[in-house]
Amino acid sequence: MDTTRAASPATDSQAHITVRNLTMAYGSFVIMRDLNFMIRHGDVFVIMGGSGCGKSTLLRHFIGLNEPANGEILYGTESFTAAEPARRQQACRSASTRT
Ligand SMILES: Nc1ncnc2c1ncn2[C@@H]1O[C@H](COP(=O)(O)OP(=O)(O)OP(=O)(O)O)[C@@H](O)[C@H]1O
Ligand SMILES: [Mg+2]
Repeated sequence: MDTTRAASPATDSQAHITVRNLTMAYGSFVIMRDLNFMIRHGDVFVIMGGSGCGKSTLLRHFIGLNEPANGEILYGTESFTAAEPARRQQACRSASTRT
């Protein structure tokens, strides 16, 4: 998977989704280690990679179906990873409706 844009500080006002030091794993099977990147509002962001590299797993982390083994995901400046379930739902809803 290619993540060419480095994560900016969480204070970046245009940050939409920030992935910070994200490690994804199924138990002891580590899929991806220390991912760092940021997506801005209006970006067309493409996740590319061979079969089994972790694309779907990353998307599952974005909506809370998987929990990071390490690191976090922020929506705007708010940690999605640390948020309560109800707050996560709100974050997903507003992320999908904002243009
Ligand atoms: N629930 C699970 N438990 C254990 N391993 C899993 C689980 N789901 C996926 N994997 C493994 O994690 C790795 C990443 O899987 P993932 O489905 O995220 O890949 P992908 O990039 O979406 O692949 P594809 O292009 O085939 O859709 C693969 O090696 C897969 O076998
Ligand atoms: Mg997939």
